[in-house]
Amino acid sequence: MMPKARKRDASRRISVFGTGYVGIVTAATFASRGHEVVCVDVIPDKVALVNSGISPVHEPGVDKALKKAVRAGRLRATTDAEEAVKGTDISFICVGTPSGPDGTIDLAQVRAVAADIGKALGGKRGRHLIIVKSTVVPSTTVEVVLPIIRRGSGRKVGRTLGLACNPEFLREGSALRDSMRPDRVVIGAVDKESLEEVEALYPGGRVPIIRTDPTTAEMVKYVSNAFLAARIALANEVANICSAYEVDVYEVMRAVGLDERIGPHFLRAGAGFGGSCFPKDVRAMVQAAREEGVTLHVLPAVLQQNEFQPLEVVRLLREATGGLKGKVIALLGVAFKPDTDDVRETRALPMAVALLKAGTRLRVYDPNHKALVEFTGLVRGTAHAKIRGGARNLSMASDLTEALDGADGCLVQTEWAEFRKIPPSTFKRLMKRPVVVDGRRTFDPEAMLQAGIDYSAVGWKNR
Ligand code: UDX
Repeated sequence: MMPKARKRDASRRISVFGTGYVGIVTAATFASRGHEVVCVDVIPDKVALVNSGISPVHEPGVDKALKKAVRAGRLRATTDAEEAVKGTDISFICVGTPSGPDGTIDLAQVRAVAADIGKALGGKRGRHLIIVKSTVVPSTTVEVVLPIIRRGSGRKVGRTLGLACNPEFLREGSALRDSMRPDRVVIGAVDKESLEEVEALYPGGRVPIIRTDPTTAEMVKYVSNAFLAARIALANEVANICSAYEVDVYEVMRAVGLDERIGPHFLRAGAGFGGSCFPKDVRAMVQAAREEGVTLHVLPAVLQQNEFQPLEVVRLLREATGGLKGKVIALLGVAFKPDTDDVRETRALPMAVALLKAGTRLRVYDPNHKALVEFTGLVRGTAHAKIRGGARNLSMASDLTEALDGADGCLVQTEWAEFRKIPPSTFKRLMKRPVVVDGRRTFDPEAMLQAGIDYSAVGWKNR
């Protein structure tokens, strides 16, 4: 006999594996809804941080939520997977799924956690529900996670074992808000009991709930990211055509986005998409399709466009400066987007490599110091292999003035609020010539031109 459907919001004991963006935000969300949460991570330093109420990742609001939950005794962290599984009834898998060298998804962390949970379940009584939140290619929950759990625990899906895939759609910078107030909840479960158990974890109300099977849920996550990435790539492609016709792509997209069938979001042309999800997930989808024998045309082109776009921004700078060799260039913004310290897949990296290759003396600056330090490490690592002389012409500026002082050109890669506030007079006063290339439409082009700045931007009427 199946256990009775659970009441929404009844307090549950939950273990969350992984304390990266997804794990820590998931843990903070469920703890703040009154559940008892144990975070599990293999890195003792991260566990210690969480136990003192500090998030291992920079994400607004998470520290506050963690501190409150730790103080109330509703959240703690451990490295002991077995103890965590035995002391809880639900385990979320929230570990990373990075790209392998050819773009294929690397499931090593997911497999390791599934093995730990399976083993611990072998010595535990009672029902346990496992929920995959990590972004995994379609069929992973059923074909990879389930067999590992089965082998470790000896359990089959049914009375004592539940399994579901419940993807997240969090944006860095607003992850806690996105998690607390999602615009939809997708639950792909192997059976009705698992589905009801996951659903009971989410507050009822107006949020649409999509009840489906695990493989469909996994596909929803990939298609959402692929679709958004494709919109950006198309906006960038259109931007490059607009420039040729001396038309402003932002004006075009404002009008295009008013078509209800298109909508206004993710049409901002710029230097391309970065971050921990879009590039990795589109690559993983392309590889997964290849393995299934499906020929894709659009998604490989999306990736190609995204590799091209930062180089297009560098080309604008080359034109504006009349050649890059020997020029002092300020690269402003290295985080993959504003309000984050994350430099994963930042478009600043291909720009920096291209600028160093072209023989510039490159100064980089970002309002987030951690992002800046990590980025210079990334450039040095990449330059070492790709550029003669490595990154000896790279320097890290400690503020805007140091970055711009005497520079021949300035390239904006991240639209930080600090940059939006720079008055044109600052560029004119500090730089040798006020050449500004705006990779993210940070400034008002007309205002910059009127103020005497030699301004160009993606999708703008550049000369
Ligand atoms: C994204 C998805 O939005 C989220 O749903 C998913 O769970 C993880 O990936 P995130 O990577 O945090 O979130 O950032 P997002 O705000 O989506 O931006 C991604 C990249 O696209 C950034 O580099 C951003 O600068 C770029 N972008 C975004 C554009 O170039 N133009 C746009 O119109 C929007």
